[in-house]
Amino acid sequence: MDKIQITGGRQLKGEVFISGAKNAALPLIASSILVDGVCTFENVPRLMDISSIRLLLEDLGASCKFEDHTFVVDGSGIDKLEAEYELVRKMRASILVLGPLVARFGKAKVSMPGGCAIGARPVNMHLSGLEALGATITIAAGYIEATAENGLIGNEVYFDIPTVTGTENLMMAAALAKGQTKLRNAAREPEIVCLADALNLMGAKISGAGTPVITIEGVNRLQGATCRVIPDRIETGTFMVAAAATRGDVIVRDCVPDHLGGVISKLKATGAMVKTFEDRIHIKGSETIKNIDIKTLPYPGFPTDMQAQFMALVTIAQGNSMIHESIFENRFIHANELLRMGADIKISGGNIANVRGVSHLQGAPVMASDLRASASLVIAGLIAQGTTVISRVYHMDRGYETIEKKFEALGADIKRISS
Ligand code: EPU
Repeated sequence: MDKIQITGGRQLKGEVFISGAKNAALPLIASSILVDGVCTFENVPRLMDISSIRLLLEDLGASCKFEDHTFVVDGSGIDKLEAEYELVRKMRASILVLGPLVARFGKAKVSMPGGCAIGARPVNMHLSGLEALGATITIAAGYIEATAENGLIGNEVYFDIPTVTGTENLMMAAALAKGQTKLRNAAREPEIVCLADALNLMGAKISGAGTPVITIEGVNRLQGATCRVIPDRIETGTFMVAAAATRGDVIVRDCVPDHLGGVISKLKATGAMVKTFEDRIHIKGSETIKNIDIKTLPYPGFPTDMQAQFMALVTIAQGNSMIHESIFENRFIHANELLRMGADIKISGGNIANVRGVSHLQGAPVMASDLRASASLVIAGLIAQGTTVISRVYHMDRGYETIEKKFEALGADIKRISS
């Protein structure tokens, strides 16, 4: 298993180019199941999770090609309606094939995703939403079976909590349902808007994406289209935090500053200088990092996917910072690794971290527990005195494209140790 070795203490300087968003690319690729033809997706990042969904689609019978960040899927050959455990267990987002399969073929069998390091992560709202559209759902032997032999029928769907992949699954399913569907209390993330735009290019009739109420007028069929994946707002935020933490001076390019309202506001509160332009952000860290309080919330609130990186930053802030994780119940595993590097963090009630700033972190061997935790440890390694070796970086490879090369180009002393 590969490791990442970082010797900290260098200020990041220069420009970094942001890749396409993993969490936008995955639903787009899944949406190609709805189409009896060819879909082309541009700006797709080269990541483990993209390889995972490719394997899944190919197993269903689709043919895929992935070159120069362009992913082409021909879904005309799909003849298997089952997403197997061995493929789903590698990536929970595989649940995204459920809605499209049942919508196009009237039947789907998808291995039930289990919990993961960050929480239980149930899919009950995906299932009750599909039931509202007329699907019959049964769960047996670890598999979800959904059937709608005469097709799905539009209806009202209310989500108890805004769910990102749940909203995406239902939006895809409703695109081919008979009549109108309204998704209420829908997730509003930019990735939802990206998927709605792509589906509309394929011939769907979706309005309201990006607001809590999405209206979908079902159509009989969708056709192939060429769609572009939006820039990764979490990768953007990760480089911004790394720049601030190292008191660096970095221009983050090919991003959408509008998608980063919460992150920009919190970085400014730490004292960093942040200037936004149409598709780039200039960030300059300040010598003194001020303490801040953060509560993760559904978009446009502060993203849970940026919580771990900010925790690394405030370990060296002046004073006490409070971080409240309200989306996932177990998303502080990185805190224990940061403690090993000299941070002062106390967790109370399971989802509140009190971080008392220390003068510096010290390099140490640490272990990544999930994707964003691994980004947090990279940032901690960049600011620590001495050398940090991060193991289990396969978590990072799921969602960050050539991250060590991008940091190296900004002046970091970072390398991958392959085993
Ligand atoms: N939830 C339920 N029932 C459901 C669905 C969700 O109770 O049927 C709960 C979850 O347990 C959680 C909350 O609702 O407490 C929100 O979860 P959501 O469904 O929005 O999460 P997700 O769709 O599984 C996506 C991203 C995650 C990101 C979250 C929150 C993708 C592929 N994944 O997950 O990304 O953290 O939204 O923004 O889009 C990552 O990239 O590292 C990552 C974990």
